[in-house]
Amino acid sequence: MGFVYTFANQKGGVGKTTTAINLGAYLAYYGQRVLLVDLDPQANATSCLKIDKKTVRGGTYEALLESSSVNTYILHNPRLKLSVLPSSSALAGAEVELVNELARENRLTKALEPIVDRYDYILIDCPPSLGLLTLNGLVAAKNGVIIPVQCEYLALEGLGQLTQTLDRVREALVPQLAIRGVLLTMFDGRTNLSNDVVKEVRQYFQNLVFDTVIPRSIRLAEAPSYGQPISIYAPNSTGAEAYEALAKEILAGNGVVVPALKV
Ligand SMILES: Nc1ncnc2c1ncn2[C@@H]1O[C@H](COP(=O)(O)OP(=O)(O)OP(=O)(O)O)[C@@H](O)[C@H]1O
Ligand SMILES: [Mg+2]
Repeated sequence: MGFVYTFANQKGGVGKTTTAINLGAYLAYYGQRVLLVDLDPQANATSCLKIDKKTVRGGTYEALLESSSVNTYILHNPRLKLSVLPSSSALAGAEVELVNELARENRLTKALEPIVDRYDYILIDCPPSLGLLTLNGLVAAKNGVIIPVQCEYLALEGLGQLTQTLDRVREALVPQLAIRGVLLTMFDGRTNLSNDVVKEVRQYFQNLVFDTVIPRSIRLAEAPSYGQPISIYAPNSTGAEAYEALAKEILAGNGVVVPALKV
C-alpha cells in the first residue's frame, strides 16, 4: 500500500511545490514509484516538469469533478521515472464548483483509491489557501501532512490556523490525520534570523520537525525554468544534497533500507 503525503501551508511561497517535486524526484531515483498530484490551479508543479497546463487534456480537475478514471490523465516522465496528475486552468473553478457536490471533501481520496496501490508514494501539492482544494488534499493525506515552513520572520504565523484546520478535519472527517513532518526551508545559516527560526519551530513542533533542513539555494530556484528537478539540474548543489537527505530520512522513517549506491 502506497504512502500518501500532502504538502500544505496556506502561506504562499514557502516551498510546497519545490519540496513535492524534488522529494518526488529523489524518491523515484531510489527506485520508488512516485505520483505527484498537482492540486494547485497555479499549476507550478505541472510546469516545473515542463508540462504546459494549456495543453493538458485533463488532470486533477477532471479527477475531482467528473469522477472519471484518474488513470486516463496521469502523465509519466520516463527519464525521471516520475508520474504526475497535472493541474490545468480549469482547476481554478473547482473551488466554487465543488461547493454543491456531495462529499465534496472526499473527492480526491475517492479519485485516488483505484490507483493508490500502484505507487509507493503519492505526493499532493496544495495551493496556498485553506479552501476546498486543500481540504481535499488533507483528507487524502493517508500518511500525513508535510508542512514546509520558510526560515523567515514570522515563520510560525498562520501555522495556528493550519493546525486548527487539521483539528477540524480530524473531528469531522479523518480522525487519524497526522502531521508527517514540518520541514524547514530556505535556511540561510549566515543569518541569526534563520537560526532563531529553526530553534523556535523545533521548540514549537518538537520531534515533528524533520532533521533535514533545506538551505536557500539559487539552484533550487533556477531548476523549474529548465523543467527539471534539482536531481538533474544541479545534482551536486547544496539544495540537491538536502532533498536527497530528506528522501532518505523519509524512506528510513518508513522502514526502507536506503541503498548505499544510487540506482
Ligand atoms: N530552498 C530554496 N532556495 C531558494 N529558492 C527557493 C527554495 N525553495 C523554493 N524556492 C523558490 O521560492 C519560490 C517559492 O517556492 P515554491 O513555489 O516551492 O513555494 P510554494 O509554497 O509552492 O508557493 P505557492 O504557495 O505559491 O504554491 C519559488 O520561486 C522557488 O523556486
Ligand atoms: Mg506551490
